[in-house]
Amino acid sequence: MKKFFILGTIAASVLVFANCSNTKKAAATPVPKLSYEANMQTLIADNCAPCHIPAKGGNKRAYDNFANVKADIDEIIRRIELNPGERGFMPFRKTTKLSDSTIAVFKQWKADGLLEK
Ligand code: HEC
Repeated sequence: MKKFFILGTIAASVLVFANCSNTKKAAATPVPKLSYEANMQTLIADNCAPCHIPAKGGNKRAYDNFANVKADIDEIIRRIELNPGERGFMPFRKTTKLSDSTIAVFKQWKADGLLEK
């Protein structure tokens, strides 16, 4: 009788803990981190061409590659947060800033650790 009680208790705890860890997993599903290839490459090609994309005829610092974008990310974020007309503002000579959500992607990529893939 005692044996059954112990087995029953063990079985019950296993069930409880199994459920417990399942709910935890579901609740803590991590948001995928941004990466250069998935989130930055196209964004930069769309917004910083032609000047920074050699294949488009750009002759400014090339931002068609992970290494340069990673190396310059602080300066990139600084410049896209300036206002049109301010010295150093990017995208150069445009009269409007990038959208808040686009600027947020640059910052989130940095916060996520500047991943390539
Ligand atoms: C119409 C052309 C043009 C576009 C579009 C443009 N830039 Fe530039 N960019 C320039 C020029 C010209 C310079 C050099 C003058 C200067 O430093 O302000 C420059 C310089 C820079 C620099 C400094 C590079 C260095 O060598 O230190 C950064 C960073 C930069 N741009 C970021 C960007 C980003 C990010 C975008 C897109 C959101 C962008 N630019 C779009 C023309 C452009």
